[in-house]
Amino acid sequence: MLRFLTAGESHGPALAAIIEGLPAGLPLPEEAINADLRRRQGGYGRGGRQRIEQDEVRFLAGLHQGATIGSPLAMLIANRDWENWRERDAPAWTRPRPGHADLAGGIKYGLRDLRLVAERASARETAARVAVGAVAKALLAAVGVEVGSYVEAIGGVSLGALDMPLAERLALARTSDVFCPDERTAARMRVRIEEARAEGDSLGGVFVVTALGLPVGLGSYVHWDRRLDGRLAQAVMSIQAIKGLEIGPAFENAALPGTQVHDALYPGTPSPLRRANRAGGLEGGVTNGEPLFIRAAMKPIPTTVSPQQTVDLETGEAVETEYQRSDVCAVPAASVVGEAMVAWVLAEALLERYGGDAMDTLARRVADDRR
Ligand SMILES: Cc1cc2nc3c(=O)[nH]c(=O)nc-3n(C[C@H](O)[C@H](O)[C@H](O)COP(=O)(O)O)c2cc1C
Repeated sequence: MLRFLTAGESHGPALAAIIEGLPAGLPLPEEAINADLRRRQGGYGRGGRQRIEQDEVRFLAGLHQGATIGSPLAMLIANRDWENWRERDAPAWTRPRPGHADLAGGIKYGLRDLRLVAERASARETAARVAVGAVAKALLAAVGVEVGSYVEAIGGVSLGALDMPLAERLALARTSDVFCPDERTAARMRVRIEEARAEGDSLGGVFVVTALGLPVGLGSYVHWDRRLDGRLAQAVMSIQAIKGLEIGPAFENAALPGTQVHDALYPGTPSPLRRANRAGGLEGGVTNGEPLFIRAAMKPIPTTVSPQQTVDLETGEAVETEYQRSDVCAVPAASVVGEAMVAWVLAEALLERYGGDAMDTLARRVADDRR
């Protein structure tokens, strides 16, 4: 069984993550983790914090000579911004910001200072998830599975239909500062972000996460909590600000007759082939050998320079929100977190199917199955 926990507040000394259940013998160069941490911090439209922090992982346990040894892997990411905050005796936040966990979290945990809610609810926590996801990606890559993402829409500027193989989309997205594979759309996205910035507003959007090279048979139809579509949805929907998800073109499929949706099979070796992948790589909650294709919708960033209406919980008066340093758009960064969560669920499902306490056993079992 593979599992992970994270700990850490946004302006505490560090974020921590522990992964348990990794096979021994998986090489984990720090750079593999740091590269994804940098991608999460990047993307056009981010706020001031990303200039203060430069996330780097420190391994504390679970590795010998750069490879896993079967024991729990412990990782630490320092919060550089902590130094700027530790001396600060700021007044309590008593004005819940709409779209944040402030109001519900403050009531739930009985916290008068809503800053204490924001400290853990904020997306700073996703740096730890990205580190965990980078480990999962390394495990998947060792058996020929690539997980990647690209941004499809920002603030209503959308890529539209794209006649381009998925692998090419991922490669081009990596060269773009909005993580969009088409430069003309990317240019319009940047303009849209600058418009929102000038208006003191924020934007959301849509990103795609895909996995290539998946073996058939990850997940199961036999029980609700083993269906991989449900598990992936939970993992991706748990990301801050993600409010919608589809597998394959699910909402488009919902408007079409069945004969135009279900991916016809025709003879091929070693197993039948398909001309389309409208199922998004899953049937019956099980991987079917086609690329996994997940689309996620991110709401606009809730913090805006333009004030929003709220209530001061101390006085009961109608007031306006106070602006806190914030991103204008974080859809590119969210796509990296999406990759991390998808990679995690796929790594879990891979180990459930093939087991193996050591990487060579796992790799052999996967290779035998692919034959
Ligand atoms: C990568 C990433 C960066 C984010 N950056 C910000 C930000 O700078 N300011 C902000 O108000 N919300 C930001 N959010 C969104 C909030 O964390 C989120 O909307 C809030 O915690 C409430 O959670 P919910 O939207 O899931 O209900 C970000 C989300 C992600 C995934």
